[in-house]
Amino acid sequence: MAISDFERPLDSVAGQSVEGALGAASQDVVWNHDHVLDLDDFSYEEIESVITLAGKMREVLDRRIARAPILRGFTMINLFFEPSTRTRASFELAGKVLGADVISVSANTSSVVKGESLIDTVKTLSAMTADAIVMRHGMSGAPYLASKYTRASVINAGDGSHAHPTQALLDIYTLKQRLGDLKDKKIVMVGDISHSRVARSGMWGFSAMGANVVLCGPPTLLPSGFLVNERPEHARSALPDVDIETNIDVAIKDADVVMALRLQKERQQGGLLPSLHEYSRLYQVTSERLSKAKSNHILMHPGPKNEGIEIGGDVASGSNSTIEEQVTNGVAVRMALLYLIAQKNQREN
Ligand code: MLT
Repeated sequence: MAISDFERPLDSVAGQSVEGALGAASQDVVWNHDHVLDLDDFSYEEIESVITLAGKMREVLDRRIARAPILRGFTMINLFFEPSTRTRASFELAGKVLGADVISVSANTSSVVKGESLIDTVKTLSAMTADAIVMRHGMSGAPYLASKYTRASVINAGDGSHAHPTQALLDIYTLKQRLGDLKDKKIVMVGDISHSRVARSGMWGFSAMGANVVLCGPPTLLPSGFLVNERPEHARSALPDVDIETNIDVAIKDADVVMALRLQKERQQGGLLPSLHEYSRLYQVTSERLSKAKSNHILMHPGPKNEGIEIGGDVASGSNSTIEEQVTNGVAVRMALLYLIAQKNQREN
């Protein structure tokens, strides 16, 4: 697209406005969420609604029919207590493309360093009439607490090892683009399952779409409570039903999708692995191992990746990899979520 296209009135760019591009997709949505905390309370229809809208948002991004201010007057505050590159930039971009006012606050440059509590920080941002607070925190459950102290919609951008719902949604969108339907597809997540919020939200999302989820990793990184029949009665529905396999070659056999997960060294207390070398020897996703998956398998990684540890550099940039697509799709999915939240708020106010 020529630079001058950006100077034309929005409606004439590619002949369409953003609202025009959303068209019927924005009429038929099933959406009833004030907050996006995890996918455990998302139905198949709600996930489908996000994915359909994300498809339209992706067209907006690709054709640069962007910068249309359908979120004018909507204020989104990014509140990040943990490092992030892609999630934070992705939310910022999603908000800005749709014309929202976007402010980013890092905990290490905020009043948190002066001892302000999470609740006070959230109340302060809320008093600035924020419409959405996008929050990343090292403690599992922190966004749930925040949601009780603000009128803004809280979007969980990753809490401890608990949940990362927007990552799961962008992964589902990426897979649906490639596979059409996830029903009965074998999705194998390999690596540090214990500490992975991506794995937990993925379990909910992929299962809701009808996929068969297999978790694979060394026994020290696979919590036993993940198997339904090992859970106490009261916790049976605490996570969806999944299969567990410690042998990566068995797990990957005939897989439609393989997702390598990063070793979350920052969340480990130590003593869970003999050595990184041993881990990569036994669990690295390599081309040899992937030869046991379906020939048209999809290789994913949420990033940031450690090539040579959980994933081989050649496969990470190979033709089956969707790693870069996941990043672009992340912006589209977050645009869709912001739009849905803004629409719901508008209907109710
Ligand atoms: C996350 O924030 O959980 C990332 O997307 C995945 C990772 O950190 O490994």
